[in-house]
Amino acid sequence: MAAKLIKGAEVAAQIREELKKEVDELIAKHNVTPGLVTILVGEDPASISYVTAKQKTSHELGFYSIQDNQEPDITEDALLKLIDKYNKDPKIHGILIQLPLPKHIDSNKVLLAIDPNKDVDAFHPINVGRILIGNYVFLPCTPAGCQELINRAYGDPKGKEVVVVGRSNIVGKPMVAIMIQKKAGANSTVTCVHTGTPKDKIIEHCRRADILIVAAGVPKYIQGDWVKEGACVIDVGVNRIGISEKTGKAILAGDVDFDAVSQKAGFITPVPGGVGPMTITMLMKNTVLAAKAAAGLIKI
Ligand code: GUN
Repeated sequence: MAAKLIKGAEVAAQIREELKKEVDELIAKHNVTPGLVTILVGEDPASISYVTAKQKTSHELGFYSIQDNQEPDITEDALLKLIDKYNKDPKIHGILIQLPLPKHIDSNKVLLAIDPNKDVDAFHPINVGRILIGNYVFLPCTPAGCQELINRAYGDPKGKEVVVVGRSNIVGKPMVAIMIQKKAGANSTVTCVHTGTPKDKIIEHCRRADILIVAAGVPKYIQGDWVKEGACVIDVGVNRIGISEKTGKAILAGDVDFDAVSQKAGFITPVPGGVGPMTITMLMKNTVLAAKAAAGLIKI
């Protein structure tokens, strides 16, 4: 393998250690315990595993933490009332609703109901707008984790050609918004390719990327010959491609053909152990920020 492995799990552990100190100090000096509620609607196995990991980390950091499980047939109205309850709860600083929600619930309406100051996912339109204009407190967790990995492993992305594959509201669009900012750790030239881009053009754009960020939702989509020699490849994909007979656990694959691309790239994130642990860590960072803001220690 030519590429250097970007060990997201190690970077995440390091950031969490710093966060733990911050939490201990918040509790000891200011009597503020960061509070996080993660709301899960239904029983999607991937969503269960994500919220379980989020809860585990928030407990490890010493947060006040609630896992709120709701039946898949909860009405939109009842879910909005639940959010209102947590909006008013002073012990809760961060509210996360695991997506996707069941089809009978309008996700946009639900995300709009979260107090923007408790919106630790940064999905509320106010926070989305603030990110675009570059005046934000919270960054969405997955793109923020990608940015952190790029800066720590590859170096300053200023002036580099960044190509984002995918235009979801959770990853692709905010990733573009983050990397185009005239700020340290960003300031890149950014192109976004997506399902509206002809395949030959997707390949063309990928091949000129210094930094390729892939959130396509298609297992092993990016091929070895689509990647520039020495490029930094960030694989956001988590696809369940089977069940291991040995362990009974899901077999995961990213959106990048790791074996082929790692021969070409200079830096690459593995799946699992790359972006995933960073996403959770950024959620914890946002919750600490929200708690500090609620205590008047920083301004939102
Ligand atoms: N589903 C997939 N990714 C995410 C995320 O970052 N936040 C939430 N709330 N749901 C998700």
